[in-house]
Formats: sequence, structure tokens, C-alpha cells
Amino acid sequence: MEFKGAHFISIDQLSRPDIDLVFRVAEHMEPFARRQRRTRVLGSAVLCNLFFEPSTRSRISFGAAFCRLGGATCDTTGFQFSSMAKGESIFDTSRVVSGYADVIVVRHPVEGTVREFANAARVPVINGGDGPGEHPTQALLDLYTIYKERGGSLADVDGLSIAMVGDLRHGRTVHSLTKLLSLFRGTKFTFVAPDELQMPESLVERATAGGHTVTLTNDLKTGLANADVVYITRIQQERFTEPEDAEKFRGYYSVTKRLYEEVCRPGTVLMHPLPRDSRVIANELDPDLNDHPSLAIFRQAWNGIPIRMALFALILGVEHEVGASSEDAPWRASVPAGT
Ligand code: NCD
Repeated sequence: MEFKGAHFISIDQLSRPDIDLVFRVAEHMEPFARRQRRTRVLGSAVLCNLFFEPSTRSRISFGAAFCRLGGATCDTTGFQFSSMAKGESIFDTSRVVSGYADVIVVRHPVEGTVREFANAARVPVINGGDGPGEHPTQALLDLYTIYKERGGSLADVDGLSIAMVGDLRHGRTVHSLTKLLSLFRGTKFTFVAPDELQMPESLVERATAGGHTVTLTNDLKTGLANADVVYITRIQQERFTEPEDAEKFRGYYSVTKRLYEEVCRPGTVLMHPLPRDSRVIANELDPDLNDHPSLAIFRQAWNGIPIRMALFALILGVEHEVGASSEDAPWRASVPAGT
């Protein structure tokens, strides 16, 4: 895809060379993301984050990534504090905010709304999650995590064996990640979910048609055995028509240290888009794994910074100018970022 000036709404826009490009730029961004170098390449540029659903890391990491490039951010969170609560249309909001910002990130509970917003916008729009639809920047940072955890070669992503666990029906991160891994060769997908929460048929068909191996199971141990990567997700209670229906699936799967050591191969990478539901009734990824070297979740969340910096640089067309406008950071982070 031509990144400069483009909206980024879906993984469907990407090809394999696009992924190479994003990762090359992201690696170039790492010293800036780690607070070792600073740049003002996006000085005076404005990012507007419009988040109409709960978020911690996505909103903050989009903002932090933009600030690390020298830009500034404006945020609005929740319908109740936006003019949509007064009946304003997507079209009007999009046109108005286009006049204030150079790029807009939108998260919305209704699938397809971010695209509608982009169609009305005059500046690039990035999908920060549209209901159960997609979360394409999360998928890129997930893949970047897999790539780094497995030694830093995209060729090694071919043939990857990944188990996705949990609410695969409503989870937009697993939808985007399935699309992204379907661009590689010979991926072995194991979708571990109760029947009611299995991966949508269309994505299973896409993976199968692409020559990948797809196994559907509701048995966690079967899913975990032989996986290179286990990607655990939360039950998306907010997507159920009757939220009480989510109750019966809460706590259905729980990956603990004991289970990991019993079933997984040594070195199996544990991922989760976060937030994990740490309530005892849910606990899909147990805190007893917190110090386990294969638990990549905090490195994964940090990888959102270089990936989002790369996307902003590419979309705003400054990826070649970052080095020229940079210098050592005068401050030092006490804990190395991204570890
Ligand atoms: C995810 C999301 O919002 O889809 N969170 C995130 O952006 N990292 C996953 C979730 O909410 O379960």
C-alpha cells in the first residue's frame, strides 16, 4: 500500500512487503521509543485520539508514539463527553476534527464505523478498534512481538504454529492477527474456544483457502501442545447481546504456570493483547507466570510504541527525516524501556 496520506483501517490493505517496510521503520524507531534519542520530526503536528470505548494502552501508546516524534495530542474518551451524545453524526464529527488534527485515531463500538469516519475525513484516519471488527495496529505489534521473540527474521514467521485461545468470535485482535498471519506461508492455526465463541467462519475459510492448517478445538491442552506461540484473550463481555451470557464462559480457560510446564514446549511464547481479566472468576492468564521469561505480554504492549511511531512516520511521510532531526536525549530512563 502507499502509506503516505492513507487511512489504515484493515489488515486487508497490507501485503508482505508492506509488513517488511513497517518493521524496518519500527526498528529505526526503537532508540527513540527507548528514550535514548529524541526527534522533533513531527513538531507542531497534532494527533486527535477519538476513543468511544474503554482503552488504556491503545490510546496512551498512540499518544506516546506521536509525542516521541515531537507531535502533540488531543483526546476525547467516551460518548458522554463528546458531541455524539448530542446527536452529532459521524460525518460532522469527522469533518470538524479533520480541521483540527493532522491524523486521527478512532475507536468505536460499532464495526464499520471507523471506515465511515474515514470516508468523511480530510486527514488520515487509523482504526484503533471497531467493535468486533478489526484492530490492525494491534495485529502489527503482535506480529512484531512474534518476530522479535523468535529472533528477528520474518522468514521465521513462515510455518509458525499459533494457538489463539478464548473469545475468538468477538475479539477483534485475533481477527486482525489471523488475517495478518494468513499473509505468511504454512501457518498452523489452532483456534481454542467454546463452540459459541469460535473464530468466524469467514476467517477460518480465508486461512484454509490460503493453504494454512486450521484446527478448531475447545480443549485447551490440545491447543497448547506443540504451539510456538499461545495468544490468550479475554471474554469480551461488552460484545454479548446479553452480558450475563458472558458469565458462563468466564474462567472457562485459565493458563497457569503448572499447565504451561505440563503441556507447552519450553520456550513457547505467551501473549495477550491485554487487558487480562485478573478477577479470580476469570483469570485467563494467571499472575503466577508474571516472572516467567516466556511471558511476553509487557514486551508486547511496549512494542506498540515503535510500531505506532512507524505508522505515523509512514502515513505522514517523514520516515526518511527522523534521523536528520534527532539528537541524544538529555534524560535517562531509569529502567530500560521495552524489557
Ligand atoms: C484489546 C481491544 O481493545 O480489542 N485491547 C487492546 O487494544 N490492547 C483487547 C481487549 O479489550 O480484550
